[in-house]
Amino acid sequence: MSAHATPIPMISHPCGALSGQAEVPGDKSISHRALILGALCVGETVIAGLLEGEDVLATAQAMRDFGAEVTRDKDGTWHVNGVGVGGFAEPATVIDCGNAGTGVRLIMGAMATQPITATFTGDASLNSRPMARVTDPLALFGARALGRSGGRLPMTIEGARAPVPVRYTVPVPSAQVKSAVLLAGLNAPGETVVIEKEATRDHTERMLAGFGAEIAVDDAEEGRVITLKGRPELAPQTIAVPRDPSSAAFPVCAALIVPGSDVRVPGIGLNPTRAGLFETLREMGADLSYENQREEGGEPVADLRARYSPDMTGIEVPPARAASMIDEYPILSVVAANATGDTVMRGVKELRVKESDRIEAMARGLRANGVEVEDGEDWWIVKGCGAGQVPGGATVETFLDHRIAMSFLCLGMAAKSPVALDDGAPVATSFPIFEPLMAGLGADIRRQG
Ligand code: S3P
Repeated sequence: MSAHATPIPMISHPCGALSGQAEVPGDKSISHRALILGALCVGETVIAGLLEGEDVLATAQAMRDFGAEVTRDKDGTWHVNGVGVGGFAEPATVIDCGNAGTGVRLIMGAMATQPITATFTGDASLNSRPMARVTDPLALFGARALGRSGGRLPMTIEGARAPVPVRYTVPVPSAQVKSAVLLAGLNAPGETVVIEKEATRDHTERMLAGFGAEIAVDDAEEGRVITLKGRPELAPQTIAVPRDPSSAAFPVCAALIVPGSDVRVPGIGLNPTRAGLFETLREMGADLSYENQREEGGEPVADLRARYSPDMTGIEVPPARAASMIDEYPILSVVAANATGDTVMRGVKELRVKESDRIEAMARGLRANGVEVEDGEDWWIVKGCGAGQVPGGATVETFLDHRIAMSFLCLGMAAKSPVALDDGAPVATSFPIFEPLMAGLGADIRRQG
């Protein structure tokens, strides 16, 4: 699961109009949570539409290693027979989370208040990412962590034998940290309180409520205050995972920049804590509409329709919106390169600790392809070339980051010359059907070598 042995170089050629229906896979964030919460209740949770990308498959395997039974039907329905809150078994093997920050951080939280010890590792990208942001609050429950210097994986967590509930203000806008604390709070007696100053994706709160936990969310002066009552008996659920807005972003943005395109992306989760990109694109002048708005499995959902938009202009993205589109800045920068004027992105320091340093990775690749970029610690500005005016022609490094890879493949579709990647293999972590899906719409992506 860790680090792909063989890189897959790819090249994306300028293509004709993209058209048709893009059925993107299930939401990655919701998929991880469905497996973990399913493993934490007694009885069978049934999951339809689970993302079968490498990140989520690693979480499925981890849940087996902690004692849950996780199976897949031939039709793609998943079944989790859980062990109950506090019922994790001690894994007999190292937990390899591959490339998945969400997987490792949420699982660490879930096991940290159980009397077991587990060792976690991942690929070169995950092993370089900061874990203290999670292990610091987990220590308050009584868990102990021993990792490499700088709080990096591989890392062993010794779960608290007698966990105590905590009150914790999350110091960075991170749904992973918030969720790790809430999952740890499940097996602590009494009330665990998590406060976030900026709202981040709330799938954990919604799903905990769905599984029957007592959880309250209050908007207070200090921020969003989430109160969870520990040691609930969770009830197994039937979950339909909506399609991932972060994956939908790629065919949507490609359609906006490739002349003549008209693409429908059905059934996209439009939880307001995730939909910031689409709002931003509309403000830039994108021809993007929501059709058939509805609710599915406790999450708002709609069909997106994106049409070629040659008159987009750069905007200053409100920093307050950053958390609701944090994974979408790379593909937004590709749209920005095809707009006129500057697109200014501030308050985005978190981009530097994702699967790669995403400001650095995008700035380097965009510059190599003839786009002017300015950047600082927590901001960057993309200077638009205008519709169809990106020169392209360069090979970029993807740094084991799926969203960097897919963003540059989209750049190539609308550039004057093809854009190549040193390694497209990471795409399989979140969007394993990206190549056939984009080819079906009319893209021209080829594997090289
Ligand atoms: C995620 C939270 C975000 C996001 C990641 C998925 C989640 O990370 O970037 O892709 O599912 O909770 P942070 O919590 O570090 O911001």
